[in-house]
Amino acid sequence: MKVGGTIRVPGDKSISHRALIFAALAEGASRIRDILPSADVHRTASVLGELGVPIPPLSNDITIAGRGPRALTAPTGDLDCGNSGTTTRLVAGVAAALPFTSRFVGDASLSRRPMRRIAKPLRAMGATVDVAPADGLPMTVSGGHLHGITWRSETASAQVKSAILLAGLAAGVEVTVHEPARSRDHTERMLTALGATVDVLGAAVRLVPAAHLAPLRMRVPADPSSAAFLAALAVLATQGELTLPDVCLNPTRTGFYTALARMGANLTLDEGESQGGEPVGTVIARPSSLTGIDLGRDDVPSMIDELPLVACLASRATGTTTIRGAEELRVKESDRIATLEQELTQLGAGIESAGDRLVVRGGAPHAAVMKSHGDHRVALAAAIAANAVDGESTVRGWNSVAVSYPSFAADLDRLARSG
Ligand code: S3P
Repeated sequence: MKVGGTIRVPGDKSISHRALIFAALAEGASRIRDILPSADVHRTASVLGELGVPIPPLSNDITIAGRGPRALTAPTGDLDCGNSGTTTRLVAGVAAALPFTSRFVGDASLSRRPMRRIAKPLRAMGATVDVAPADGLPMTVSGGHLHGITWRSETASAQVKSAILLAGLAAGVEVTVHEPARSRDHTERMLTALGATVDVLGAAVRLVPAAHLAPLRMRVPADPSSAAFLAALAVLATQGELTLPDVCLNPTRTGFYTALARMGANLTLDEGESQGGEPVGTVIARPSSLTGIDLGRDDVPSMIDELPLVACLASRATGTTTIRGAEELRVKESDRIATLEQELTQLGAGIESAGDRLVVRGGAPHAAVMKSHGDHRVALAAAIAANAVDGESTVRGWNSVAVSYPSFAADLDRLARSG
């Protein structure tokens, strides 16, 4: 199989959510280019609309008129966050500072995901937060007069950290968040770019909000998590060279590329000029022979969303790959440890899991019928694995890819035609 050519994958999902939220909280006209028009980002747009900030249809050049946090208004109905944990947790942080009640709902998968992790710090700041008894949605947030806090998060989670930072920003109070390890730092970078004072000390971050947030002007770089799937496709190919330009190379997001290089992949990362406070560059991937590696707890945060793909690649590597300290995978869009074990077994891979651990023995996977379990990353990882084996495979529940990478099939088609 030959995989060659150049493709700019769509905009980064984490940055796209944040760009909309910061534009809504800023004072003035924010201009965002190359936002990701995916299902999750549409949820953030519609939820902000419910809170009184109209967001235009998502295109590659949008302008949003912000009037500051106090201009947000009480929603007339539920805030439906669909499948999007980022929408729920980040907007809940903002809602905690607003003088009304917001009720967050979502699909079956999102309704099962843990919300106490944000409810606890937001309550400690002075908001009233009710979470469904089994933890999850529906969740109601009644905002109040918040006070500053210093919070120690039990998990390295950018969503928890960002909920607290956004609550502090919207309420105009100082907050400090300590994490067990540093999670993705897009919120901190954007805050700094918009004029807030953000101090980072190891895995702790302190925000001193400015009186007003300046409008945002940014171009969203290409998503390194989406680019990872295409890079993997090229690594598993037998010929060609794939160039992925304009990818966000923020070090809190590039763990997958480091791991892939450790597995022996022929990969180049060329960092260019930074864009809107984010390092951006070109990823070049070529056919390679892979060897299994050990990944530990410290490796997990910077490649949390790429672990399903790593497991698929490991099934094609020589030797065994062990992933430890990955308990957060249990509470993603699916229990990714369980769903990966199930789907890689369909492909004929040797895989075992227990607790926070996944062990994959390399071999010769075969064509299979797999399921997405409603999880976009599982669907995409399964598609990459399927593409590299002989015969026809099926991924059931394929429409879940709309959450993060709606144009994946079209991009794959373009590559096939240019290859
Ligand atoms: C995200 C943070 C991560 C990641 C998710 C997006 C974000 O979740 O898995 O896809 O945009 O902040 P956690 O913060 O829960 O680890």
